[in-house]
Amino acid sequence: MTIQTQPPSALAEELKAHTGRFTDKAFDWNAFPSNAGFPELERAQMRYIGAGGSPKVGDTTTMQPDNFTVSLIYKEPGKYAACHSHEIEESFLIIDGTLVVGWEKDGEVVEVNLGPKDMILNAREIGHGFRVDGVEPVMMSISVDVGKPLPPVYHYHPKEHAPELARSFGAAPGKTLPFDPRGEHPLQQLMAQYVVRHHEQPVIWEDAGFTRKVYVGEGGIQHDTCRKEMWGVPSRVGVTAFTRPVEDAFLVLEGSLIVGWEENGETVEVELGPRDLVKTPAGRKHWFRNDSAAPATVWTVIGQADDDGVRYVAA
Ligand SMILES: [Fe+2]
Repeated sequence: MTIQTQPPSALAEELKAHTGRFTDKAFDWNAFPSNAGFPELERAQMRYIGAGGSPKVGDTTTMQPDNFTVSLIYKEPGKYAACHSHEIEESFLIIDGTLVVGWEKDGEVVEVNLGPKDMILNAREIGHGFRVDGVEPVMMSISVDVGKPLPPVYHYHPKEHAPELARSFGAAPGKTLPFDPRGEHPLQQLMAQYVVRHHEQPVIWEDAGFTRKVYVGEGGIQHDTCRKEMWGVPSRVGVTAFTRPVEDAFLVLEGSLIVGWEENGETVEVELGPRDLVKTPAGRKHWFRNDSAAPATVWTVIGQADDDGVRYVAA
């Protein structure tokens, strides 16, 4: 007797190609050539969509970006990233640990300490660096709001500046200010517009039975590139199929989530666990559902700033 096995459909293959599994991927300790030779700058990158700030754009294990990139960054206590800037916005969402992020202007630096589920959107052309002052390593998700960013411009790299100055992102002693939304310094006021504390964002209960906290978009940081939201999907909650004019990505942080696609009457689904991601292309009918007992926490990135008209309906 021969066992007949159906080859996976084209749609199933496409969903598989748009799924980034944490366990299938590897951290790259050589993603940033400008860090070579500086152990204090060491960090590892896991690329899901695009190369992010790394020049490794030819990585075939990475999904092609449209409007944004998604990667994970891992950094150990005592390490830092030298102050640099980009032509486009870049967000840091903390997953584990605490991260100090500094913004520099004219030799003055404002530093903010971010914890799990906090986010900063690094503004265009603003010098920024980060440092792990805490006792545990930091895991964060970085999204650059353009598919193929230009290389970063370094402002205070240790190859050109004294180690202490590079570690403080360019602030001489006494030139570092704390993050303070009510502070009078223009850099404090600017940074306050770009930091999202998870506990400060209002919870939006959708009629479909799940929660959203808007980080970037209406109700969060207003911006002209991508929307970013933290979703809470209770056990046994799901929505009917919806489509967007742009791509979106679901990165599961906690729990598990089923993501489904439909095309020409055929449906396929995949279950995601922590640090698994699905990128759904523009125009594809898709949905999500939590079949497990525990709630799911999902980081969602949507490739446009404007309201796309999607209304979530309980399945
Ligand atoms: Fe950056």
